[in-house]
Amino acid sequence: MRVLILGGTGGIGQALARALRGQGELHLAGRRREALLALAAEVGGRAYPLELGDELEVQALLEEVGPLDLLIYAAGAVVRKPLRELPRSEWEEVFTANLTGAYLVLKHARFRPGARAGFLGAYPDYVAHPGFAAYAAVKAGLEALLKVAAKELRREGVHLVLFRLPAVATGLWTPLGGPPKGALSPEGAVRRILEALKAEPPPALVEV
Ligand SMILES: NC(=O)c1ccc[n+]([C@@H]2O[C@H](COP(=O)([O-])OP(=O)(O)OC[C@H]3O[C@@H](n4cnc5c(N)ncnc54)[C@H](OP(=O)(O)O)[C@@H]3O)[C@@H](O)[C@H]2O)c1
Repeated sequence: MRVLILGGTGGIGQALARALRGQGELHLAGRRREALLALAAEVGGRAYPLELGDELEVQALLEEVGPLDLLIYAAGAVVRKPLRELPRSEWEEVFTANLTGAYLVLKHARFRPGARAGFLGAYPDYVAHPGFAAYAAVKAGLEALLKVAAKELRREGVHLVLFRLPAVATGLWTPLGGPPKGALSPEGAVRRILEALKAEPPPALVEV
C-alpha cells in the first residue's frame, strides 16, 4: 500500500503517520522540515518538505511519489478575527492550507484503482460563528470541491471521503488559546478516520 499524508507535521497528521507505521510505503509532506524529518525517521517514512500553495512543488511531489492507494489531506489553518479586522494575507493563508492545496493535490495526484482519499472538514454549524468567516467559508468550499471531484474522479476508481470532525486537541487551536474541554484526542480522531477509509465501500461523508 502506498500512502501519502499531506499536513504530516500537524497534530492529526502525526497521529495518522504513527497509526499507519509498518502498513506500507509511507510518504509524509509538511512545511516544517525538521519536524517532518524526525517523524519520517520515527515511522520509517519518506519526508517531503513542501508549501501547498506552490503548484510546482505539489506537482513534483505527486510525480515523485507515483500512483497512490491512500491519500489523506490533513493540512489546514485557522484564524479568528472579525471580517473588518481580517488582513487579506491571513484570509489567503487559510484558503491556501485548506482549499487551494486540496485542489492542487486533486489536480496532480494519480491513484491506483480502488484508492481512497480522505479530507478533513468541519461541522458547518460549529464553525459559522463570528470571527470564523475564513474558516467557515473554506470548509464549505472544501465540501463543494469534493462533491464535484468525486464525480470527475469516479472513472479512475478513487473514493473521496469527507470527514466532518469535532474539536480535536492539536496545535490548530494554539492561536485560539488552546483546545476546548472535551476535545477528541488526535489518536481517537485517527481511529475513526482510518476505520472509515478502510470500509468497503468507504462512505462519501463521515461525521465523527
Ligand atoms: N483540530 C481540530 O479541532 C479540527 C477540527 C475540524 C477539522 N480539522 C481539520 O483537520 C486538519 C488537520 O488539523 P490539525 O488539527 O492536525 O492542525 P495542525 O496541527 O495545525 O496541522 C496543520 C498542518 O497543516 C500544514 N500546513 C498548513 N499550511 C500549510 C501550507 N501552506 N503548506 C503546507 N502545509 C501546510 C502544517 O504544516 P507545518 O506544521 O509543517 O507548518 C501542519 O502539518 C485541518 O484541515 C483542520 O482544519 C481540525
